[in-house]
Amino acid sequence: MSETSAATPAAQTGQQPLARRGAAHDSAFLRAARGEPVPHTPVWFMRQAGRSLPEYLKVREGIPMLDSCMRPDLVKEITLQPVRRHKVDAAIFFSDIVVPLKAVGIDVEIKGGVGPVIADPIRTAADLRRLRPLEPDDMPYITEAVGLLVDELGGTPLIGFAGAPFTLASYLVEGGPSKSYENTKAMMYGAPELWAELVDRLAGITAAFLKIQIEAGASAIQLFDSWAGALAPEDYRRSVLPASTKVFDAVAGYGVPRIHFGVNTGELLGLMGEAGADIVGVDWRVPLDVAAERVGPGKGLQGNLDPAVLYAPTAVVEAKAREVLDAAAKAVGDSHHIFNLGHGVMPSMDPDALSRLVAFVHEVSAR
Ligand code: CP3
Repeated sequence: MSETSAATPAAQTGQQPLARRGAAHDSAFLRAARGEPVPHTPVWFMRQAGRSLPEYLKVREGIPMLDSCMRPDLVKEITLQPVRRHKVDAAIFFSDIVVPLKAVGIDVEIKGGVGPVIADPIRTAADLRRLRPLEPDDMPYITEAVGLLVDELGGTPLIGFAGAPFTLASYLVEGGPSKSYENTKAMMYGAPELWAELVDRLAGITAAFLKIQIEAGASAIQLFDSWAGALAPEDYRRSVLPASTKVFDAVAGYGVPRIHFGVNTGELLGLMGEAGADIVGVDWRVPLDVAAERVGPGKGLQGNLDPAVLYAPTAVVEAKAREVLDAAAKAVGDSHHIFNLGHGVMPSMDPDALSRLVAFVHEVSAR
């Protein structure tokens, strides 16, 4: 697959994206992602960039969330903040799963404390016509921000990401966050052809968003199917797996590690691996050695400390982190494990507790 598209900023930096990405090739994160021996277990945190950091709140002051995602200098600064502060082994690109929806013209905003809100939900065949494909030139600000970051990060890998078709569909159909996904499931069960067309279009948009990030220099990608845990395995297999598989297939040729994560997906772990992931992200409900049996051989695991443990005293955090590392060792041996929380950092978390956790995991896993 071509590493040099018209959308890459190679001409501006004088370096090919592949060469820039190469600086991180031997990082602990990418070695673990490939299942190679590592100097220590790599750590990063979902939602590490964001509201738990005072320096984040300061630079975001007065700037709406989605506007901030379109300003490369700001994206660069916010992405780097947790790397500087916590010494995590990877950066996650600061953006949001709904940014590509906005880029194709969907009227979406992120309401503080609520999440993405869609002005006109998509529920009919006529609505679906509003969801056009994402073209590489729709997001010049993403290409620019990734390019700036990869140059600055050097040996620290940048993880690109996107929302998976089901999770994006849930926002588009419900019009916002939901607990029971009744409109989404009504379409999935009651209008299967319309549903298939919706998730297929979303797979195209998601794949295009990931390609933009990879071609600009991202070293790995994570597909967030945060809300897929609402589905029974057979419904996931029938109605969601084909679309998520299409996303993983579309980026397979780049050779960058692909992570697949959702919350409450204990019953879906095998299928989420089957979709094409190299690494399956696990929430805190399933120990990693059990998760490994469900995922099957040959794939890495990411996770899975209960985020709420971070509110307990340090000694407890460390004991629970050790349990995660021990379960990982049983599951996948010394490598092929990336330490993370079972879901994202919470806004009220003490940033120092996160920094201490990174140092602890590095120290006790050193080999
Ligand atoms: O640090 C990082 O993880 C990188 C940036 C990132 C954000 N959103 C920034 C953000 C990533 C990877 C996401 C992914 C995302 N967005 C997911 C999947 C991950 C997950 O946690 O399950 C989902 C479901 C969304 C949709 C979304 N966007 C939600 C549910 C929210 C939170 C709403 C709230 O305020 O409680 C957002 C907003 C959002 N995305 C914030 C950040 C830093 C907070 C908004 C702000 O600071 O104003």
